[in-house]
Amino acid sequence: MRKFLSLALTGLLIAACSQPVPVAQDGTDLWLAAGRSYEDVLASVTTGIDPALPAEGFHIYDASGVRHVDAGSEAGLRYGIYALQRAEVLGQAGPGMDLQEKPFYDLRLLNHWDNLDDTVERGYAGMSMWEWTAADIPVERIHHYGKLCASVGLNGAVLNNVNANPLVLDAEHIARVAKIADILRGYGIKTYLSIKWTSPITLSGLKSGDPLDPKVRQWWKDKAAEIYAAIPDFGGFLVKANSEGQAGPQDYGRTHADGANMLAEAVAPYGGIVMWRAFVYAPTSPDRANQAVEEFLPLDGQFADNVIIQIKNGPVDFQPREPFSPLFGKLKNTKMMMEFQVTQEYLGFSNHLAFHGTTWEECLQADTYRDGPGSTVAKMVTGIAGVANTGQDSNFCGYVFAQANWYAYGRLAWNPTLSAEQIADEWVRQTFLKPEGMKDAAFAKKFVEPVKGILMASREAVVDYEMPLGLHHLFGGTHYGPAPWERLGRPDWTPAYYHKADSAGIGFDRTRAGSGNVDQYNEPLTSTYNDLATCPENLLLWFHHLPWDYKLSSGRDLWDEICLHYDRGIQTVEGFRKTWQGLQPYVSPALWAETDRKLTIQASDARWWRDACVGYFQTFSGRPLPADVEPLRTPIDSLIYRSIQSDRLGMPQHDEAGDPIILMPRRFRRPQ
Ligand code: GCU
Repeated sequence: MRKFLSLALTGLLIAACSQPVPVAQDGTDLWLAAGRSYEDVLASVTTGIDPALPAEGFHIYDASGVRHVDAGSEAGLRYGIYALQRAEVLGQAGPGMDLQEKPFYDLRLLNHWDNLDDTVERGYAGMSMWEWTAADIPVERIHHYGKLCASVGLNGAVLNNVNANPLVLDAEHIARVAKIADILRGYGIKTYLSIKWTSPITLSGLKSGDPLDPKVRQWWKDKAAEIYAAIPDFGGFLVKANSEGQAGPQDYGRTHADGANMLAEAVAPYGGIVMWRAFVYAPTSPDRANQAVEEFLPLDGQFADNVIIQIKNGPVDFQPREPFSPLFGKLKNTKMMMEFQVTQEYLGFSNHLAFHGTTWEECLQADTYRDGPGSTVAKMVTGIAGVANTGQDSNFCGYVFAQANWYAYGRLAWNPTLSAEQIADEWVRQTFLKPEGMKDAAFAKKFVEPVKGILMASREAVVDYEMPLGLHHLFGGTHYGPAPWERLGRPDWTPAYYHKADSAGIGFDRTRAGSGNVDQYNEPLTSTYNDLATCPENLLLWFHHLPWDYKLSSGRDLWDEICLHYDRGIQTVEGFRKTWQGLQPYVSPALWAETDRKLTIQASDARWWRDACVGYFQTFSGRPLPADVEPLRTPIDSLIYRSIQSDRLGMPQHDEAGDPIILMPRRFRRPQ
């Protein structure tokens, strides 16, 4: 017996010794966790500035046994060193390496929706990383941010919210912004600011904001001079005007072009630019998706050279899936810039795992047909902006998997033809440290591949459990949970405006017989979207209102298909959970536990979404759920008009089990 025990113990010991030992990490190194440090890589190569290379470009090569990194500028050199660091981690830096790159876009910006009181609009990773209200700027964090941006090739940051506070342009804030700019400059990053249209009125008591009024024009010129005296390489202004209640030139009977050109004139002498947003819509229009083209197409060609129109990827608002904005295919004589949302306003905040590499790949590779076939969205734009997901949280993003979106955004801004899959692969290998004692091949097979699989399936899972088949904007107040029943208030801010469910069917008719939105696309897209036979099924209810018994390509009725998609979303997230359970031996306990908890929340939220949407739509369809889907967890009567409990910053609250804490609507709650 003794002998048997000792043999068994030895066996256990051998097994234990051959087990991988996860490396402790907490996500605060983001994707710079693996490999040599930047400084070590730099010290190990011969560098040179070669003016023949593009300004931000680099060339990595070997000559006579020596590794060289040449670049067109200091910024290019930095990108080259980071590219080499990445290549080393990916095992692509062997002898004979020869890699020459330059960025596809000159403008590669993050837009921070940070307020001067330190709150962050649609931010889910703590308060503002710039710490506007603190005595001094957070020097260390800004350096860290600069490194992270430079490592993926980003070169611009708009520091404050598009819903701007005019005070950002007072002397005190300009001085503060100048200090931040001094740090960011060291990483090749230019600093920009969002401005409020009425700043001259609020800050200096001017009577008007009319862009054709000489006093207003002079005010902006003086303000530009003041900013450039403090920040000589200041990038320029980002503007949200005549949008969602923000004032703008139209308040004075002027156009977007009049407004943008006035600001452009003020910053032009210094090489500055104006990024003028096309996010405009009025409650009076029958289709919000039509409005950007309606307002901006007539102005095509009227904007100054240093104005660029910044357009959200879709025509509504960063929904889990939208077609690309038709404006990308319409403006021919105006510079355009992409606006993606890195922060997950509509995809579960920093609670849900939703990798946007696939979302952005889909948009960038979409063909607008503007100049014939091959006119991809990526080629139509000359710059790119991403609404940041950063905050004061020590890991910057509130969730290790949310970091993947910052990374993917930077990589696509550098090279929009990269595949989402390659980016996912890079990110996993750079972020998660291989356990001690584990071979590269085993790590790739047992950890990298499954995690990549989760990333690649994640966005479609969110589409499935939130709003499949082209449904959109089914959100309640904070944009976290479902509220398909909401129909009170401004119509285009209610889900009912978008889903139009009734006993006859569901979906927004944007065909020629409906809002005519299809006509804003170039052929063959107009016909493709207009015709039910060719409209992609993942955009079906975006473009068509269809009866519940409409037959899909699967042979199933629309109602059944809707239910199946919601169910598939839940099952996919359950699959992620299962996979993650099996990955515990390979990942640090801290990161494993964080993800495990968040996936639990995500699976529960997915059921909440399904119960709310399927349960509510069932009141119109009057049909049973198909037999092969999970039954509803909560009856619609217990969900309708209810929302999730949130903290004062709007962060949703879940209980120990990961279930959303659902509240009765205020109007139904008993007075305490
Ligand atoms: C969305 C978002 C707002 C934001 C706006 C914008 O509507 O919910 O918070 O201000 O987009 O992009 O301007």
